[in-house]
Amino acid sequence: MVPERKRHLITSAIPYINGIKHLGNLVGSQLPADLYARYLRARGHEVMFICATDEHGTPAELAAAKAGKPVAEYCAEMHAVQTELARGFRLSFDHFGRSSSARNHALTQYFARTLGEQGLISEVAESQVFSVDDNRFLPDRYIEGTCPNCGYERARGDQCENCTKQLDPTDLINPRSAISGSTRLEVRETRHLYLRQRSLKPEIAAWIDSKTDWPVLTTSIARKWLNDGDGLQDRGITRDLAWGVPAQFEGAPWQGMEGKVFYVWFDAPIEYISATAEWADATGQDDAAWQRWWRVDKGAGDVTYTEFMGKDNVPFHTLSFPATIIGANRAGGAEWKLVDYIKSFNYLNYDGGQFSTSQGRGVFMDQALSILPADYWRWWLLSHAPESADSEFTWENFQQSVNKDLADVLGNFVSRITKFCRGKFGEAVPAGGEYGPQEIALIAAVAEGVAAYQGAMDAMSVRRAAQDLRALWVLGNEYLQSAAPWTVFKTDPTRAAAQTRLSLNLVRLYAVLSEPFIPDAAASMLAGMQTTNRDWPEDVPAALAALAPGHAFTTPEVLFRKITDEEREDWQKRFSGIRS
Ligand code: 2FM
Ligand code: ZN
Repeated sequence: MVPERKRHLITSAIPYINGIKHLGNLVGSQLPADLYARYLRARGHEVMFICATDEHGTPAELAAAKAGKPVAEYCAEMHAVQTELARGFRLSFDHFGRSSSARNHALTQYFARTLGEQGLISEVAESQVFSVDDNRFLPDRYIEGTCPNCGYERARGDQCENCTKQLDPTDLINPRSAISGSTRLEVRETRHLYLRQRSLKPEIAAWIDSKTDWPVLTTSIARKWLNDGDGLQDRGITRDLAWGVPAQFEGAPWQGMEGKVFYVWFDAPIEYISATAEWADATGQDDAAWQRWWRVDKGAGDVTYTEFMGKDNVPFHTLSFPATIIGANRAGGAEWKLVDYIKSFNYLNYDGGQFSTSQGRGVFMDQALSILPADYWRWWLLSHAPESADSEFTWENFQQSVNKDLADVLGNFVSRITKFCRGKFGEAVPAGGEYGPQEIALIAAVAEGVAAYQGAMDAMSVRRAAQDLRALWVLGNEYLQSAAPWTVFKTDPTRAAAQTRLSLNLVRLYAVLSEPFIPDAAASMLAGMQTTNRDWPEDVPAALAALAPGHAFTTPEVLFRKITDEEREDWQKRFSGIRS
């Protein structure tokens, strides 16, 4: 039975622009989101899968300054780099946008204006450090000085890197501008816009309470921020930066915000919507094409919206972004879509510690692809996704997983049966013979396994889905081992033909089922089987007869190679972050 075709909007947390992401970042949102998107497409659903780079904020400005480039140029370059790496990992975004896009400027200002018109934005006067020579207010991180705690001379206004003490800019001894080095600093009064989240609290609380199917990791973080201490605070949504979405614009319901931009966490989630509009622009479509995903009043009523992210992003997606949406929806007219399900992840650690960008500890996306194909990483990362707790990457575990699961189980099955068939029957699916009890039992077990796998995928239980998929590969291997067509062939070639036919059909089936995890290997398997039939096995017995007798195939190259002990040791040293 073919299930009803549904519409799924999927977003992955958008990675910061400043630098290449490590494998822990990848497995925390983009990769599992891709798995789910691929699975839903394979099941015949209509999918819109969106990601982007998060380009605003102090870190982007600082990284650009460090690279000695204008920030716009730096972001454009890094966006190209991240796009290429996403392609390398086969992340199947419908669009990989940029939060600095014209679309995001317009939509961010639209949401701010609408919230302002609903009385949900207030202006708050604050004292802040102003640099006379730079002619601008300085964010905390842009002020440097001597740490009052440890004497470190390059402490930042928010924290001392040396002793980790949290600081206020006024705590620093001999403060100076990190931009120019100037010491002509003054404390001046400035005004900022605040989103009045407190007045939205009852609605947000009720909305979260209604999400009884959400994972505990998600709702517990949301409730903690909603109810602990002072609860949901009003939040400053402007900053004194040059790079970002200008807070003063035509039609703004406030004045005097020149020189300020919206806070990066205000505009970043809006980019999910903007990137969908960027997709429509890039594919030559009109506004209706993206609005049917985001505007309930324009056809998005039947869309299921799922967000993927690391646990540190949960407060922003359960409270802040919904506050923007719920607040804007109060205006009436436009009804924007709220998220239906949030899938959040714990952290992946690296070999007894943490991934560290500053120390170069751990494997980064570009390095990973330079040593092994994407599928090896995808398989390990997804089958060890930090779902219920933090998980850890070790080279031993990686080697073992790749060598066993991919090479010994799946790869071995494919190579053994195709080579055997080529040797005895030629490169075509053999005819003749009947299925006996063993084959009938295998087909039933595969059907059961497929149902379990689908259940795990539907529930976005990533690790469980990987286990279920592996169990399906094992079924084929064990069958082949015990049926032993190479022995049967000697006395009963017709029966060996039937066994081989079923096994070759399993190769195609494995390709289809495995595609969300290991798309390149799946493509090689289908190419080897010389078929474009990638239909999901809604009916397993029928799917196992898809390749009819006489159907020609080519024996695929080795699907997965093994990782040697020498390689493992070498890589372990290379990525330890200890520079020799
Ligand atoms: O944590 C991060 O990497 C952020 N750049 C995620 C932003 S997700 C969103 F809200 F757009
Ligand atoms: Zn210090």
